[in-house]
Amino acid sequence: MTLTAENAAARATPESTAGTATVRPPLDPQALRADFPIFERLIHGKRLAYLDSASTSLKPRRVLDAMDGYNRRYTTNVHRGIYTTGEEATAAYEESRVKIARFINAPDPHEIVQVRNATEAINLVAYSWGRRNIGRADTIVLTELEHHANLVPWQLLVQEKDADLEFVPIHDDGRLNLQTYEVLLRTRPKLVAFTHVSNGLGTINPVREMVEMAHAAGALVLVDGAQAVPHLPVDVQAIDADFYVFSGHKVLGPTGSGALWARRELLDAMPPFLAGGEMIREVHLRRTTFNDVPWKFEAGTPDIAAAIGLGAALDYLADLGMDRLREHERELVGYALEVLPREVPGITIYGPASADDRGGVVTFNLPGVHPHDVATLLDRDAIAVRAGHHCTQPLHERLGEAATARASFNVYSDRDDIDRLAKGLRSVQRVFDRPTSESHAATTQASANDLD
Ligand code: ALA
Repeated sequence: MTLTAENAAARATPESTAGTATVRPPLDPQALRADFPIFERLIHGKRLAYLDSASTSLKPRRVLDAMDGYNRRYTTNVHRGIYTTGEEATAAYEESRVKIARFINAPDPHEIVQVRNATEAINLVAYSWGRRNIGRADTIVLTELEHHANLVPWQLLVQEKDADLEFVPIHDDGRLNLQTYEVLLRTRPKLVAFTHVSNGLGTINPVREMVEMAHAAGALVLVDGAQAVPHLPVDVQAIDADFYVFSGHKVLGPTGSGALWARRELLDAMPPFLAGGEMIREVHLRRTTFNDVPWKFEAGTPDIAAAIGLGAALDYLADLGMDRLREHERELVGYALEVLPREVPGITIYGPASADDRGGVVTFNLPGVHPHDVATLLDRDAIAVRAGHHCTQPLHERLGEAATARASFNVYSDRDDIDRLAKGLRSVQRVFDRPTSESHAATTQASANDLD
């Protein structure tokens, strides 16, 4: 299978054909729900108000059909079978790589490594690039916003190499302190790694500016796009980072799919991560030569159905238009930031004050009620929110909270979901009816260890 930039360009999305763009109407979430079979069932007799898309997104029929088509009609391994179904499977798997490249405007599909999720992509970079390039007393700069996936792999690396981690702090409103970032860059770090959009607070970081500053200081940059690719138009060439990662299951795609994009010269120079079949060129008893990128990093049989499902998800989103999705979520976040403080007395909302600075995430607490209780009681009304530390314990330490509740959106979310959330939170308050911050602190401390 030949992968070319021309191949990707020939299938350019409406977003990338600027100049001929026509203004399209806003997304219609009620109509789009018909594409998601999960809405055919009722939860406790009610329509599901799914407000946990930052954790994982729902899957449209187009994705399920693509995976089903592979499993039913041409289940075969890839890059191996020289027969009809084998060639179909290889073509579909490689076509997904081209779709991923196109979706994030990567210049060359060979720069896309298909992985199981963003966590695996970051581990790949930490083990492969990190072990070769980070040495004693080198510094890696991260931020207080990071998901554990963009923190723990670097902790393991610096422990092994006797290197250092530094952290860009946040302001109280959840935006990064760029003055301190500038000061940290004076230590000449080898790598800067940060999230594009915070899963904990929704903060949209100024990635282009931060990459430029890091490059001027001589650092490479990894951007965790797990909460950006599902919600914003992402252009890795415009961002100009060195590594960019995301998970498929948050982009309306299946679990077990995702991507690492990296500059070709970096991938070429990086040693293999996982070893085994498929990533080799020649194997002898005592030595092996390796395959070209990206296959050098795709050892073993991949999750073929998931990769094909991710390609279908990206087609679905490209057809809707990522600009429209961003505008839809910006409008919903603005509505939530207006309605929740008005309808839910005492609610604390964390993160940037303006919807312009947030992805589709609203994180909050009710005084006197543990977020686990909030989520459990909301579930009775078929409202699904996440409660806990959202895999961002250091961020929660900075907020002074063991846990928070979080509502997060996608194409199928609408104002009615937010109205139901506000009403549900009022009911929760009536159940507890003890709105003192003292009792809240006591409850969160008592339950902190129960939550993930
Ligand atoms: N990273 C996912 C979340 O934020 C699991 O919920």
